[in-house]
Amino acid sequence: MERILPYVHVFLFSLFFICFPQILQLQASLEYTRPPPRSIKITPHLGSDSDPQQVHVSVVGRDHARVSWITDSKKAPSIVDYGKISGKYEASATGEHELYHYFFYSSGKIHHVKIGPLKPSTTYYYRCGGTGQEFSFKTPPTTFPIEFAIVGDLGQTEWTASTLAHIGEAGYDVLLLPGDLSYADTQQPLWDSFGRLVQPYASRRPWMVTQGNHEVETLPIFVHKAFKAYNARWRMPFEESGSSSNLYYSFNVAGVHIIMLGSYTDFDVASDQYKWLQADLAMVDRGRTPWLVVLLHAPWYNTNTAHEGEGESMRKAMEGLLYQARVDVVFAGHVHAYERFTRVYNNDTNQCGPVYVTIGDGGNREGLALTFKDPSSNLSLFREASFGHGRLRVFNQTHALWSWHRNNDTESIVADQVWLESLSVSSVCMDPSTSANDEL
Ligand SMILES: *[C@@H]1O[C@H](CO)[C@@H](O)[C@H](O)[C@H]1NC(C)=O
Ligand SMILES: *[C@@H]1O[C@H](CO)[C@@H](O)[C@H](O)[C@H]1NC(C)=O
Ligand SMILES: *[C@@H]1O[C@H](CO)[C@@H](O)[C@H](O)[C@H]1NC(C)=O
Ligand SMILES: *[C@@H]1O[C@H](CO)[C@@H](O)[C@H](O)[C@H]1NC(C)=O
Ligand SMILES: [Fe+2]
Repeated sequence: MERILPYVHVFLFSLFFICFPQILQLQASLEYTRPPPRSIKITPHLGSDSDPQQVHVSVVGRDHARVSWITDSKKAPSIVDYGKISGKYEASATGEHELYHYFFYSSGKIHHVKIGPLKPSTTYYYRCGGTGQEFSFKTPPTTFPIEFAIVGDLGQTEWTASTLAHIGEAGYDVLLLPGDLSYADTQQPLWDSFGRLVQPYASRRPWMVTQGNHEVETLPIFVHKAFKAYNARWRMPFEESGSSSNLYYSFNVAGVHIIMLGSYTDFDVASDQYKWLQADLAMVDRGRTPWLVVLLHAPWYNTNTAHEGEGESMRKAMEGLLYQARVDVVFAGHVHAYERFTRVYNNDTNQCGPVYVTIGDGGNREGLALTFKDPSSNLSLFREASFGHGRLRVFNQTHALWSWHRNNDTESIVADQVWLESLSVSSVCMDPSTSANDEL
């Protein structure tokens, strides 16, 4: 792995000169010049076999977190020592581990340890496996305000590194990822490289993810079981929300109920996912969680020519449930661009429908989805094919500020921004007599 690095640098050095004319052009015109895709960034492991790598944290229940990491050594223990003062670990928790095989590849030891109870908005220092490097992470708040960083189709290129740097520069509480993480695409060592690339961010804040098509990774004859690497490496708190699958789950953070759906597992009326979603929505208490947010991979509304119609069967199956529940906003990925819609239901504007946002612009190796349909739809309010990330800052039970931050090389520029008002305070949409008249 290490031997690849000098070549990557040489390549990037040349790429800078290839890009240079465009940088000049960019300053000359007001029109933003779209950058080309960038090369894959391999992140090597520089420690020993027993040193933790690919450390990431996720939210579990009201006041717990799960720390996940990998060791090449199968002897390293699944223990996390943690505390509120650096170097002083007042608590310790033991968890479990798993391994998986994929064709000729055998994973390292994948550790998952649940820690807590933890105090909100508090920095915890922790150590994995009883030794080595100290990490720290901040727990999310239990009250507003709360800020989410949202980005899909991340991959592991130099553009990904740029997106991650922008995400890290400004504070956030929880990262939400609507699918397509590593773009390993069956090359399992790329999952390890991805884990190392995101560790500086995912070990500091909870990262909550759902799957995309690049997580499926079945291979004819050899690998029948889907989501082998994803499920082993990115375990999410599905049991806690009554789900029987890591592919769909929900959780509460501050006053926000977040539902992660699976675009690549069954979603029809008879499916387990559908029944789970119905039950989960029925339990939402908008008094406790005024905001209701959904993430899924293949967008239900999209005016890009890429992946046209791919979310349509899921939309037909589940849109009614989300509409009746007065979901505030639906984030999708898959299309490598940014697009924001108005409030929509049944392919038309609807003041009680969710705002739909496509945020599949993390920076993966496939590049941007450059072609939007012309003419556009009047449902689509902003669309642009550039890499970047989004932020949802929820100020209180009524107001949230959504912003889209375009990557402009070393800078991050707010290119789209809009205030959202929660449907939970809309007298029209929350009126039971209105709901009874909803055409479904
Ligand atoms: C991108 O950054 C350059 C350099 O700071 C600036 O001149 C340009 O206006 C920016 N472009 C956009 C579209 O934000
Ligand atoms: C949604 O409406 C637009 C225009 O009104 C139409 O072109 C498009 O085919 C519709 N999509 C679906 C899925 O019905
Ligand atoms: C959008 O266009 C459709 C027809 O394509 C029309 O029915 C609808 O009223 C329009 N909505 C707005 C907000 O203009
Ligand atoms: C919620 O936050 C918005 C934006 O800061 C503010 O305008 C509004 O007054 C706040 N509402 C309440 C009920 O605090
Ligand atoms: Fe995708």
